[in-house]
Amino acid sequence: MVKSIIMAAGKGTRMKSDTPKVLHTIFEKTLLGYVLDAVNKTGLCDENFVIVGHQAERVEEYLKDNYPFAKPVLQSPQLGTGHAVSMAIPYLKDYTGEVIILNGDIPLITADSVKEFIEFHTSTGADLTVMSALFEEPGNLGRIVRNKDGSLDSIVEAKDANSEQKEIKEINAGVYCLNWEKIMPAFANLKTNNAQGEYYLTDIIKWANENGLKANVYTLKDKNEIYGINSKVELAEAARLLNSRTITKHLTNGVEIIDPATTWISPETEIGADTVIYPSCYINGKNKIGSHCKIGPFAHLRGGVILEDYVKIGNFVEVKKTTIKSHTNACHLTYLGDSEIGANVNVGAGTITANFNPLTREKSKTVIKDNVKIGSNSVIVAPVTIEEGANIGAVGVITKDVPAWALAITRSPLKVLENWVKRKLH
Ligand code: UD1
Ligand code: CA
Repeated sequence: MVKSIIMAAGKGTRMKSDTPKVLHTIFEKTLLGYVLDAVNKTGLCDENFVIVGHQAERVEEYLKDNYPFAKPVLQSPQLGTGHAVSMAIPYLKDYTGEVIILNGDIPLITADSVKEFIEFHTSTGADLTVMSALFEEPGNLGRIVRNKDGSLDSIVEAKDANSEQKEIKEINAGVYCLNWEKIMPAFANLKTNNAQGEYYLTDIIKWANENGLKANVYTLKDKNEIYGINSKVELAEAARLLNSRTITKHLTNGVEIIDPATTWISPETEIGADTVIYPSCYINGKNKIGSHCKIGPFAHLRGGVILEDYVKIGNFVEVKKTTIKSHTNACHLTYLGDSEIGANVNVGAGTITANFNPLTREKSKTVIKDNVKIGSNSVIVAPVTIEEGANIGAVGVITKDVPAWALAITRSPLKVLENWVKRKLH
């Protein structure tokens, strides 16, 4: 088991936002959340330290609500990545195992790669391993400087690199694994004599080499995994990359996605084979969609949606925290929230489950049993149950339970006044 340190104290000036960088979201999950999940899903990490600084209280509160087991460690002021990691030393004074360190702004990193990285580090017997990737245009990223025999010499930040080093295409991903006991003394030796006047974490490599320790490099197969986010342009690009990775996975698994370019599917959505997703759908949060379903065009799933097989969710239908059994259709202009819907139900066009009471701010549940037919433009006011086989006449406003196989009608009878128009005209 290893311990992790995630660096999340930086300001993220270029985000131009009131929200700290690591709390920006893709599919409503924060950048920090993605990194924590990737590390913990390896099953190899038993403790998380998160370095907080800029708007520390907000990040700490987020951790308390969502990752209560992660320990925030305050870095104030923020004097660089080396300084950030050294803040965790008091918590790990007597620790002798491995520590993995990650930048907090790389949401595309996968648990598989982190796991392979840790296993590579352990199997090579290195004291320090750095994750690298190859970029055609390495820009501001730190360069991996190798010796003639291919071994790792050092990392040079772009701002400190000479013209020859600037040409290097292999860059530092910002993920490190180290033997804590052996590398810890490096932090006391970091200096700020560099272009940015900061304590660079990357200087621990040079230190390790000078002290006869073994430093190694692990190169990522997919460079997109360490796509770092410094601006909203990059945030949008990371979301696109994550979405396209998710869509490719579903297509490979036999889901039919008509237009990947306009389809958004959160990474936490499961979809069965032979389901068809039509263009312009937004599927957010955690959902489970069965096989042979038809979704969209223009459908919005907001999380907590469980669809059995052969369910149809059509255009302009919004679904949230709702379970729907097989062969049920909600084809047009509908909102289904906090509901449990049976099999073979027909939800007419324009049906709304009114689940929210704005006075009490409470949400209530709607239960619709098997074989129910709901006429168009009905409002089902929760909490309410419509028992098996009941029919709701069009424009029903359902405020109390409807028994099995009953017909519920709430509209006034149609009145036809013959020749009414003609009479008005004379
Ligand atoms: C860093 C690496 C660079 C690498 C790049 C990968 C250093 C010196 N450079 O550069 O080699 O190619 O990441 O993306 O490490 N942070 C703190 N406290 C601080 C400063 C930063 O917690 O005092 C956190 C930030 O919140 C961020 C991470 O550390 O999550 C990286 O900081 P950032 O300033 O983005 O480093 P880069 O310049 O991108
Ligand atoms: Ca960065």
